[in-house]
Amino acid sequence: MPKARLKKLSARKEMKRLRGPNEADAAKKDSSFLQLLDTHQRMMQSFFLHQEALLQRNFRLAHRRLIQYERRIRKHIQEEERWLMPVYARAGNVSGGQPQLFIGEHRRIEEFIDRLKALLQKERGRERSASRHAIEILYQEAMFRWLLEHHDEREKQILYPTLDRVTSKKERNVILKKCSFFAKHSNRV
Ligand SMILES: [Fe+2]
Ligand SMILES: [Fe+2]
Repeated sequence: MPKARLKKLSARKEMKRLRGPNEADAAKKDSSFLQLLDTHQRMMQSFFLHQEALLQRNFRLAHRRLIQYERRIRKHIQEEERWLMPVYARAGNVSGGQPQLFIGEHRRIEEFIDRLKALLQKERGRERSASRHAIEILYQEAMFRWLLEHHDEREKQILYPTLDRVTSKKERNVILKKCSFFAKHSNRV
């Protein structure tokens, strides 16, 4: 290949790298269940707001923010179980991705949040014990985050790509629209 052409090609490659994901990539993600990973990220930001309040030992605010986070994640779980899991059943037996694994993790996430809420409402005492109380909750939350990351990874590697495989683009768009419609309206509650 002539040198000039090679140079042009590598320049184009570099531009692409600097620009990040191109429009085609974005469009591809648009009609993929993988776009639900953005929902996971948004929920995580909401959880971090709760942890920031916790670090400041503002337990009342931390509790309020945990409830906001809980509302979001429960809606997401509801969407997955109501709209995604029935379609996922088409894939049959998926190794490491049996429906009960996802559903079991959902229940563990919900139970964990209930425990965190109960911990947050416990008597906080004086300044020093308030710090200890915050440390104890953060310790529990480190385990909670491990559970979330594990669940996120299982959905990223198995659930969402499998759903992409067993659906048409049109069907994906219909389901994804239903999920966001449901999320938008239930946020008003
Ligand atoms: Fe999810
Ligand atoms: Fe999930």
